[in-house]
Amino acid sequence: MPTHHIIAIDGPAASGKSSVARALAQRLGFSYVNSGAMYRAVTWHVLQRGLNVHEPAAVATATEQSRIVCDLVDNQSRMLIDDHDPTPHLREDDVNRAVSLVSSVPRVREILVAHMRGYGKKENVVMEGRDIGSVVFPETPFKFYIDASPEVRVRRRLAEGQRDEIAARDRADSSRVASPLVIAPDAAVIDTSALTIDGVVDQIMQRLVAKGLPVHSQTATPGGQRMNPYYWLGYTLSRLLAQSFFRFRIMHRERMIQSGPLILAMNHQSFFDPPLAGNASNRAIFFLARKTLLDHWFWGWLLPKLNVIPVDQEGSDRSALKALIRILRAGEATLVFPEGARTLDGNLQPAQPGLGLVIAKTLAPVVPMRIFGAHEAWARGSKKIRLHPITIVVGHPIFFTQADIAERGKDVYQRLSERVMNEIAKLTIDGNG
Ligand code: CDP
Ligand code: CDP
Repeated sequence: MPTHHIIAIDGPAASGKSSVARALAQRLGFSYVNSGAMYRAVTWHVLQRGLNVHEPAAVATATEQSRIVCDLVDNQSRMLIDDHDPTPHLREDDVNRAVSLVSSVPRVREILVAHMRGYGKKENVVMEGRDIGSVVFPETPFKFYIDASPEVRVRRRLAEGQRDEIAARDRADSSRVASPLVIAPDAAVIDTSALTIDGVVDQIMQRLVAKGLPVHSQTATPGGQRMNPYYWLGYTLSRLLAQSFFRFRIMHRERMIQSGPLILAMNHQSFFDPPLAGNASNRAIFFLARKTLLDHWFWGWLLPKLNVIPVDQEGSDRSALKALIRILRAGEATLVFPEGARTLDGNLQPAQPGLGLVIAKTLAPVVPMRIFGAHEAWARGSKKIRLHPITIVVGHPIFFTQADIAERGKDVYQRLSERVMNEIAKLTIDGNG
């Protein structure tokens, strides 16, 4: 049994497996394993030795006798065969032609599958191929079968300048006896014909989250600003003070995404909210504040060091929306209050469309968060602060896809904001939701 997370991506030639698996691995901070490259490597080796690929016994013996070393270079699989690195030859025409034959030899599969499982013992991996979900890791709950129409796939290969008889290879791969290309019964099928690579990755991310894969280990996307000493001090002091006076706690902090563009979306109760929300993340996040707040010499000096970006007005103001989009495009995280302003009565308020517009422009994931007790501690308009306990509950990240923003317009933005607000409303102080 693998002890790590395995994400299996299977599908026919040029369905986009490699591009999608590589991008997904990057987003998750997992290693990427291309199992097709392993069959190609053995094929190249067999051809190099001048063997007849139509003789399964000779192919099997040659594979048994070769020394195969599998490792990872820059989080990507690499295979050395008898000390040679076959990487430059894997897409050569004779390899394209022979690989389906070589990979239909059961002994070859046996040997390579053992190496594939070896990766799964050492690492969290995204592995792509033909039988990863059906044969190599049948027990993984994370299985995808990605497809595209034959015309689209031929076009994709041609666009790469490759002469690859993918129809013949598909036929051979699907009809062979040993581990044919099949859709594992529990795999999610995604048609990528009309999707971009990022669009496919978004859809997969959403399903992974829904299936309970913890995605907080994302490390590879740019951004993820580290805290400067002022930020760290503000972050630490606000937490310590809130813990002492308001018994402040954060529930399900492990759900937070720690790198890449991210919107932390929380209901808004008091002026305490921004520093407390900031404590839900390990990295420095960005906050928007009204320009006039920075007019005072002290705040004008300090707030920019705390990642506060001045805007004309908070909420759905144009300069605020632009600032948010800029922050997210730089791969950073930012706090947004979908309701626009602090609550007067402590209840949740309707969502404003601003957040939806930012989602539509950036497709940044959203971590919904709900704050409890800050209204009781410091109600809007009140001069009195009460020592009421404050809790923030972090929800599961929401990933949006191209399909969510196929149409644009205020209604769409409103619906996106409402979707986030509904997730916030589901969070309860006992940590469910
Ligand atoms: O990238 P493309 O889809 O063209 O092919 P690939 O993933 O590099 O795989 C090349 C060939 O290896 C396939 O046509 C299959 O015959 C074989 N293969 C396999 O049998 N099982 C796998 N898990 C992966 C590839
Ligand atoms: O690994 P596989 O053979 O399934 O496909 P790939 O090598 O990842 O993708 C084949 C080509 O299609 C690449 O040039 C990709 O950039 C392109 N592609 C695309 O245009 N749109 C997608 N959704 C997926 C792949």
